[in-house]
Formats: sequence, structure tokens, C-alpha cells
Amino acid sequence: MSESKIYDLVVIGAGPGGYHAAVRAAQYGARVALIEKKNLGGTCLNWGCIPTKALYASAELVQKIRSHGKDMGVICDLKLDFTKAVERKNNVVKELTEGIGALEKAWKNDVFMGHGKILGGNAKDGFDIAIEGQESQKIKTKRILLATGSSPALIPAFNIDHERILTSDDILHPDFKIVPKRLLIIGAGVIGCEFANIFATFGSKVIMLEYLASPIATEEPMIVKELQKKLESLGVEINVSQNVLSVINTGSGVKATTCSAEIPRDQVESVEKSYFEADYCLVSIGRAKESSNLGLESLGIELERGAIKVNPKTLETKAEGIYAIGDVTGGIMLAHVASHEGDVAVANALASLGGFKIEPRSPDYNVVPATIFTNPNIGSVGIRRNQAKDLGYDLLMGRFPYMSLGKAKCMGEEEGFIMILADKNTYKILGASCIGAEASELIAEIALAMQHGLTVHDVAETIHSHPTISELVLEGMEDVFGMAIHKKGRPILH
Ligand code: NAI
Repeated sequence: MSESKIYDLVVIGAGPGGYHAAVRAAQYGARVALIEKKNLGGTCLNWGCIPTKALYASAELVQKIRSHGKDMGVICDLKLDFTKAVERKNNVVKELTEGIGALEKAWKNDVFMGHGKILGGNAKDGFDIAIEGQESQKIKTKRILLATGSSPALIPAFNIDHERILTSDDILHPDFKIVPKRLLIIGAGVIGCEFANIFATFGSKVIMLEYLASPIATEEPMIVKELQKKLESLGVEINVSQNVLSVINTGSGVKATTCSAEIPRDQVESVEKSYFEADYCLVSIGRAKESSNLGLESLGIELERGAIKVNPKTLETKAEGIYAIGDVTGGIMLAHVASHEGDVAVANALASLGGFKIEPRSPDYNVVPATIFTNPNIGSVGIRRNQAKDLGYDLLMGRFPYMSLGKAKCMGEEEGFIMILADKNTYKILGASCIGAEASELIAEIALAMQHGLTVHDVAETIHSHPTISELVLEGMEDVFGMAIHKKGRPILH
């Protein structure tokens, strides 16, 4: 880099928010630098979405052969090799993270490995940024985008030692190749359930401890019930309403002490306790924002419980010219939301500089699909039934099971169902939840329909290829007005 080089945009953090934003800015002709202190790809590619989905693919294959091998005429002497599955996972991660480096290079973005810290400056004269790493250096930029993400939340009482009491980062470490005989999982949220499915399939006795009265409490209760049934059929023991008081490494295993989550905090000492023992423990109770040591305070950037506060319309922080996106802002902690926010922040940052063919814009969170990779997997978008009621909607619901679908039967994927919520007055789609084969893919069609304000009739009148799993969406939409072909309903004619 020449001494006088001033970047248009420096992005700190190369996760799915940051690396995506850096490419997007380059596509508009900006001079961009990307700073990353650990690995390109961030949590998603290294310790999150991608490695879990690679292991999930192994677990899915095992489950398929176990449940349908014989009746589909594929008879084999099934042997599981978790070490091999982990090695494959490591290769998938390696290839994809290397791909990010190549992508940034192709767009002529400068990538710096080290900890990025804002030293000072302003939107008019530019900002100075230090990169603290093997070779410390300073760079100058007109605009900054903070995309530093999150890390597993740590609670002192859980004594996370990274040996037996682990975070999701530890259990996804390239060298962690153990299938624990008994695995205790604290937190039956998205991460907890995804790992419960993987390790139970590979032979662990999984015991889950969840504080709330239900696992994945953010999903539709009917969907969660179906998932619970499936996890339990794999031998997973789900203990809800558990206040975990402590977890200790006993030397040969782990031991958790709990009491009922209904007991008030000041009375927990005196009540009866329960004890859970296992060989390893995974703590998956949410994530903490990575906002420390970025030089934010001197610039007047505000934090709220570790999250960087931004203007919700522009994603700009209190400091003009500095934007923040993704997990570190504490919003919807999903990779694809971070990428969306990256597009928005890039548009606003470059538009404020002038000279780029780009207009300012705001984020749009009306339609955010979410996917959970348990087997069967879950896809959801829009609002849930209880939210629709709270919002005062007059609700219509369509529901269609996989077992009534020809393609699902051929695939041996008869478990699960789709449910569609629609506004009774307008027939507009308000939300959908699906559990079953390819649920995570199906939800994309509904997201597109919702984003463009389509009605259930608009989707139902669209020809869906036969035989496909996507017909589940078609029949689910038709069931909203009681006219699914493969289900007896009560037609609503109008
Ligand atoms: P989460 O918020 O999904 O679940 C944490 C669970 O732990 C909750 O059910 C909570 O009630 C429980 N919990 C909290 N404190 C507890 C305690 N002291 N004792 C017992 N239970 C306790 O968070 P998770 O699973 O750690 O995931 C983190 C983030 O990563 C989430 O925002 C999630 O959406 C995202 N993620 C997304 C994935 C996907 O899109 N497929 C995959 C994995 C994670």
C-alpha cells in the first residue's frame, strides 16, 4: 500500500457480514480493506453454520440409511467413523474460507490479518486504524464498517475450561474428534438442538438442560413438538425448566447441579437440587457481542449490553461515517441478516461519500427466513400464530403433511408438515413454518412471496413441478382456503 493511500471503506471483521460487505463495496468501485483477527469467514464459516452443516450432512446420511436403507434395497454393514466426518468437515471449512480470500483478491480488496482498532479521526478528514498483529501497521480510511460479530456467551458458574466443559467453538475445533459416551448440553436453543441431533446420531447419549419451558421457544409450538418427538426417538433426553446452578469438571467427567427454573433466585439455596452427569458438556446459551478494544468509546459510539448501538434506518453509529452490522449490533443474530445489513451499510457509507452509483437505503426485516438444521430440518418465516393473534389479525391457517405428498413418499421422507398463516381479509401470507425434508429450502419460496406481498392464491396459482417437495408449499397454500387436492378440507369459495 502506498503511503498516501486512503481507503473509501475499511471493514473490520470478515464474517458473512463483513466479507460480503467488502465485496459489495468493491463492486461499486470503492477502494476497500478488510481486517480479520482470526480466520476469514468468521463464526459462520469456521465455527458455526458451515462446519455444523457438514457434520449434519454426515448425520443425515446415517439416519437415512438406518431408517430406510433396508426397505429401499440398500443393505449395508453400517460403520460410523466420526474422525472421518470431522476431517471432511475440516476440508469443507478450509475450501470455503480459502474461497473468501480468493474472492477478496479478485475484487482487489486488501486483506489484513490482525486486530483492527480505530485510533481516531472523523468523517470529514478520514479515520486512522491500527492493525495489531504479527506486523502492526496503520491505515487510513474515509468510512468504517464494524462487523466484528459475536462469540459464545460464558457464565462463570459453568466453569468453561475448554477441555470437558466446552463452547460450540471447542466442539467444532478441527481436532475435536470425540463422540462422548454421554454429552450434556446446556441450552436447548438452535445450537443445542443441532448438536444434539449430530451427536445422538453418532452414538452419544445426549442430555439437554433448558431454562425455558420448551426447547427453541422462538419456533411454533407444533413444530417444536414434532422436533422434540424426533430428538427423543434418537434417545435425547430433554429436561426443560432447569435452572443450571453450576457445572464442574470432575476429572473424569462433568456434573451439573440444577433446580427448577420456577424457584425464585433468592430461594435456590434451600430447595432440592437435581444432578446430571456426563463425560463432556456443551454450553450453548446464546452469544456475546464482540465489541471490546475497538476504540469506540473515544468516538462517542454507544454500547448497550455489549451491542453497538446504530441508527436503525441507516446502520450508522453515533460517530458519523462509522457503521455497524450483524451480531455485534445485537439484532437478529443470523448470517444472512448480517449480509443484508452489509449491503445497506455499504450503500449508506458510499452514498455519503458521493461519486458512487448507489443510493442510501434502510434495512428491511419484514421477511427474515430462519432455518434450523436438525433432522428433520426446520424452516420458518414471518410471524408465528401467537404473534398474529397479538397483532389482531383475523387468521386463516393451512397445514399439509409430507406423508400426503408423492415425492416425499418416494424419498422415504414422510415425517413433518408445513403450516401457512394468512390474513383472512386479504389472503396475504403472514408467515409459514415447516418441519421435514428440505424445509430449509422450501421456506425461500414463501419468503419471496411475502417480500412481494403475494396472496396464498398467487402462490397456489403458480405451477409447481411434479413430483417435487415444493408441492408441499402449493398444497399448504391451497389448504388455507380448504382446497388442497390431497387433503380433505372445507372449501372457502369467493
Ligand atoms: P439460542 O438463543 O438459540 O438458544 C439458547 C438457549 O439457551 C435458549 O433456549 C435459552 O433459553 C437457553 N438458556 C439460556 N441460558 C440458560 C441457562 N443458564 N441454563 C439453561 N438454558 C439456558 O442461542 P444459541 O443456540 O446459543 O445460538 C446462538 C445464535 O446463533 C442464535 O441467534 C441462533 O439463531 C444462531 N444460530 C443460527 C443457526 C442457524 O441459522 N441454523 C445455527 C446455530 C446458531
